[in-house]
Amino acid sequence: MRLTPAFWAVVGVLTLGAAADQYRERALELMRTTPLIDGHNDLPWQLKILFNNQLNHVDLHSLNNTHTNIPKIKAGRLAAQFWAAYVPCETQNKDAVRQTLEQIDLIHRMCDKYPEELTFAESSQDIMDAFVQNKTASLIGIEGGHSIDSSLGSLRSMYLLGVRYLTLTHSCNTPWADNWLVDTGSTPSENNGLSEFGIRLIREMNRLGMLVDLAHVSVEVMKKVLQVSEAPVIFSHSSAFAVCPSKRNVPDEVLSMVKDKQGVVMVNFYNDYVTCSSRANLSQVADHFDYIKKVADASIIGFGGDYDGVGRVPEGLEDVSKYPDLVAELLRRNWSDQEVKMALGENLLRVFKAVEKVRDSMKRTAPDDVPIPYEQVQNPCRTSYGYPPDDSASSLLPLSPMLLILAQTLSHL
Ligand SMILES: *[C@@H]1O[C@H](CO)[C@@H](O)[C@H](O)[C@H]1NC(C)=O
Ligand SMILES: *[C@@H]1O[C@H](CO)[C@@H](O)[C@H](O)[C@H]1NC(C)=O
Ligand SMILES: *[C@@H]1O[C@H](CO)[C@@H](O)[C@H](O)[C@H]1NC(C)=O
Ligand SMILES: *[C@@H]1O[C@H](CO)[C@@H](O)[C@H](O)[C@H]1NC(C)=O
Ligand SMILES: [Zn+2]
Repeated sequence: MRLTPAFWAVVGVLTLGAAADQYRERALELMRTTPLIDGHNDLPWQLKILFNNQLNHVDLHSLNNTHTNIPKIKAGRLAAQFWAAYVPCETQNKDAVRQTLEQIDLIHRMCDKYPEELTFAESSQDIMDAFVQNKTASLIGIEGGHSIDSSLGSLRSMYLLGVRYLTLTHSCNTPWADNWLVDTGSTPSENNGLSEFGIRLIREMNRLGMLVDLAHVSVEVMKKVLQVSEAPVIFSHSSAFAVCPSKRNVPDEVLSMVKDKQGVVMVNFYNDYVTCSSRANLSQVADHFDYIKKVADASIIGFGGDYDGVGRVPEGLEDVSKYPDLVAELLRRNWSDQEVKMALGENLLRVFKAVEKVRDSMKRTAPDDVPIPYEQVQNPCRTSYGYPPDDSASSLLPLSPMLLILAQTLSHL
C-alpha cells in the first residue's frame, strides 16, 4: 500500500504538535523545581481604579477583567510576584505618600484574604519557603521616587512595612533623579541624572537591603547608580533597546554594565516596548530574551511582565496564565535547562541575596538622617519644620542653646 502525501502531512502536523507539547511539558517540569519570579505587576492599581481598594467587594478567584486573578496565577505557575504599590506622578508633592501607604495596605490585605494562595514575602528565603508550600510569594515594590516625597524617613518606614524595591522614578523627575522622558527630549533634565541626595538615597537603600530598580529612569541615572551602588540592581520591567528603541528599554552599554554588576533585567511584555508598535506576539518577546542572552548573558535575564499596568499585551501572552508558553518557546530556541532556570528565578534570587549580604555588611553603619536641602523640595504643600528659619544656616549644629530656645518659642506662636 502506498501512503499518500496527505497522510504524511497529517503525520507531520501530529509530530510537530507532539514536539510543541514536549517543550511545554519540559517548561512545566522546570517550573516545578525553580520558582518563576516576576518583577512587576499592577493588579493593586487595577483594584484601586476598579474598586477604590474595597477588596471586600472583590473575589480574586472570579475577577475576570484583569490580566491577573488566582486561577490565572495557578495556571501560569507564578511562584513569586513583586506587586507594584504604584501611584501616579500626579500625586507628587500632594498625597503620594498616603496613596502609596494605601497600596501597601492593599497588598497586605490581599495576602490576608487569600492565605491558601498568596503569602507575604520580604526576603529571598521567604520566596523559597512560599515555593515549597505551593503558594505565590507576594512582595512589594514602590514604583517611583515621588512615593517617598524625598524623605529617607519615609523610605525606611516603607521598608519596615515590607517594601523591598524602589523604582527610582516613574515617568516624572523627582527632586533628585531624572526619568526616561528626559532621554526623549520631552522633559528637561533637572538633576544632572542623579543628585547628591540621590546618591545618598542609593547608599541608604544598600544599608537597608532594599533593591534598587532602574526601570523608568534616564540612561544617565542607570549609569550613575551602577557605579555608586554597592549591591547589584534590577530593572523590574524593561526590555532591550537594540530590539525596540524605546527610551524605556535598556541600551547595550548598560546591559554590559548590568552583567559586570551581576544584576538582572526583567523583560517587559508591553507591546510598545517589545516591538515599538501597538502589536506584538510571544515570539517577539522571546526575541528580547534571546538578544539579552546574546549580548550579555542568560545570567542577567528575568521576567517583568507589567501585567495589569499596560493596555496592550502580546498575542500568546494575554495574561499571567501564559508564562509556561514563553518558557516553552525559550526551550524551543535551544535554551538549556540551566539558562531557563536562571531566567525563571535564580538570577533574581542571586541579586536579592547579594542585596541582603550588603545590608548585613553595613549593619554598623548609622542610618542617614540628613534631610534633603529645603530649597530642593520647597513647594506650597510642604512645611519647613525642622529646617533652620534662615536659609543661609545650612546646619542646626552651630545653633546656640539660646537660639534653639528662641526657635522653639517662635514655633509655638
Ligand atoms: C465576569 O464576571 C462578571 C461578574 O462576576 C460576570 O457577570 C460575567 O459573566 C463574567 N464574564 C465571563 C466572560 O466570565
Ligand atoms: C500545587 O498547586 C498546583 C496548582 O493548583 C496543584 O496542581 C498541585 O497539586 C499543588 N501541589 C502541592 C504539592 O500542593
Ligand atoms: C509574530 O509576529 C511576527 C511579525 O509580525 C511574525 O513574523 C511571526 O510569524 C509571528 N509569530 C507568531 C508565532 O505568531
Ligand atoms: C537548536 O539546536 C539544534 C542542534 O544543535 C540545531 O539543529 C537547531 O537549528 C537549533 N535551533 C535553533 C532555533 O537555534
Ligand atoms: Zn512601569
